[in-house]
Amino acid sequence: MVKFSPPSRWIVILCSFSYSLAGPVQIPNLKVPASAAANQQAVKDIFLQSYSAYSEFAFGHDSLLPVSKGFVDDRNGWGATIADAMGTMLLMDLTDLFEQALDFVSKVDFSQSNTPSSVSLFETSIRYVGGMISAYELSGKQHQILVQQAQQLVDKMVFAWADPNQTIPFGEIFFANNSPIVAVNNVAEAGTLDVEWSRVTLYTGNQLYTNLSEGSVRTIANLPSPFPGLPPQLVDPTDDMFVDAFLTWGGGTDSYLEYLIKYARITNTDDNLFADTWHAAVDSSIKELLRTSTIGDHTYLADWNAGEILLEGSHLACFHGGNWILGGKLLNNQTIVDIGLELVEACWNTYASTETGIGPETFSFMAPDGDFTQPDAQQLAFNSEHGFWITTSDYIQRPEVLESNFYAWRATGDTKYLDRAASAVESFRKFLVANETNGFAGLNDVNDFTAGLEDDTESFWFAEVLKYLFLTFDDPENISLDNFVFNTEGQVFEAPPAKAVYGSGTPIAASGQFHTKTSDALPLPVISPDPLVTIKPGPMNGQ
Ligand SMILES: *[C@@H]1O[C@H](CO)[C@@H](O)[C@H](O)[C@H]1NC(C)=O
Ligand SMILES: *[C@@H]1O[C@H](CO)[C@@H](O)[C@H](O)[C@H]1NC(C)=O
Ligand SMILES: *[C@@H]1O[C@H](CO)[C@@H](O)[C@H](O)[C@H]1NC(C)=O
Ligand SMILES: *[C@@H]1O[C@H](CO)[C@@H](O)[C@H](O)[C@H]1NC(C)=O
Ligand SMILES: *[C@@H]1O[C@H](CO)[C@@H](O)[C@H](O)[C@H]1NC(C)=O
Repeated sequence: MVKFSPPSRWIVILCSFSYSLAGPVQIPNLKVPASAAANQQAVKDIFLQSYSAYSEFAFGHDSLLPVSKGFVDDRNGWGATIADAMGTMLLMDLTDLFEQALDFVSKVDFSQSNTPSSVSLFETSIRYVGGMISAYELSGKQHQILVQQAQQLVDKMVFAWADPNQTIPFGEIFFANNSPIVAVNNVAEAGTLDVEWSRVTLYTGNQLYTNLSEGSVRTIANLPSPFPGLPPQLVDPTDDMFVDAFLTWGGGTDSYLEYLIKYARITNTDDNLFADTWHAAVDSSIKELLRTSTIGDHTYLADWNAGEILLEGSHLACFHGGNWILGGKLLNNQTIVDIGLELVEACWNTYASTETGIGPETFSFMAPDGDFTQPDAQQLAFNSEHGFWITTSDYIQRPEVLESNFYAWRATGDTKYLDRAASAVESFRKFLVANETNGFAGLNDVNDFTAGLEDDTESFWFAEVLKYLFLTFDDPENISLDNFVFNTEGQVFEAPPAKAVYGSGTPIAASGQFHTKTSDALPLPVISPDPLVTIKPGPMNGQ
């Protein structure tokens, strides 16, 4: 096992609260200081400014292009930004905007795509289904139309299980003829449906949605993997065979792992498969993937490919800190919470180290294993100062670092997390405004503002980044982590009162000898949502 040592600044915090760590996720009776109100208002102002630009130049389309004053319909043209933003509007008390959004989504015909594209089960479930079901709950369960619209989508997506015996769905489907694209899927897309679909079951009474979405996770969790709990990314739904040997907490695998524990929490199922598989994923990650950087002693989870350790990390993977804090609390396991807090530190360091105060899409680091991506002189110099180097320099409005920061705040009450959120708000206002529309954009290079803006306002800017920031500065009793579960798009769902503990206390054991196909006739998927992060097929993949 790789040794890790919590920086001493936490030991004080951890010791003083250790008696209360078992059980609730949040520190009881936590309050925000008075200074939070101004920061919270600043977040609300960013939301209003961003949404106003969207409304002026892109209303009804999926996303605003804030630099070119245009729009893009890359989520089937159903107005992804509107559906995704509704929950945040409700939390921010933006009643007029919510009424307008409700009116819009109520009239969308979700039975057909407004673009020639196929429909992604994953994206559609987390943004549209998740957005509408969360808005249904947050608005007092009076707008039944939101459930009906979500059900219309799910009723079309069930055709992604094309064969009666198929348990893992295909990732993409054409609504025009209910035919899926027959292709390899990835575990993130196949295993990130159950939180949303079980909600649709809850509000419609149709058990089919839970059976299908949960069944996919069960199949993946029961397939022998390289280490217990950690499946490779690619799986063939036609024969339930893995197609690679690449392990990561990043894109393509991320939310499968994230949902194992969240599904256990939101359903309170007595079946320990989900929590124990999550525990196994964490346990295997501690043994096989956890690394401390040679400079700065930062705690990272490396990737792994067919026996080779890859010393790299990503913005997408940075949800892990928050997820380990949440799961560690639910398992009553302080070791997992502590490592989660270390992961939060290292991910924040990727923000604190750049010129803009915003972190990059991907990065690498040095550990005793070596320097997998072979940094150039400039990267080496950056590394000697910061303990990592940037390998993909852009920022595309991702939430994960601020999401984990939010969990760390609610779980520890350490106000440094509020300071970090305030610093991000400041950076966003200073560096992301596109003067053409007054909307908010991404960055081509987080360490060089002059490299320019990236021309997209993602729907998750509204659903995730601004929601997590807003709630960080909110009364911690609002959307308490003890009463709500966030989906992977930042949509909040009501959770039943928590059980005393989740899982059996023992990680699930290996279910057999891992095997993977050396090649597959079927096409490989594009890892969503970012085409910049490409799958790294292993040598076992024959590519
Ligand atoms: C959040 O907390 C504040 C202060 O306790 C309260 O006034 C407000 O209504 C809460 N908001 C929500 C959405 O619950
Ligand atoms: C489904 O599985 C059952 C039992 O293994 C088998 O008898 C049946 O032929 C299968 N059906 C299809 C369509 O593959
Ligand atoms: C869901 O699964 C349960 C348990 O296997 C089964 O009894 C039920 O018929 C299934 N329902 C639907 C609608 O598929
Ligand atoms: C917590 O989980 C870790 C990782 O599986 C394990 O090593 C440790 O023994 C667990 N602690 C307790 C108290 O169960
Ligand atoms: C927008 O305008 C302000 C004020 O002129 C300027 O400081 C800023 O750099 C501009 N932003 C971009 C992305 O060009």
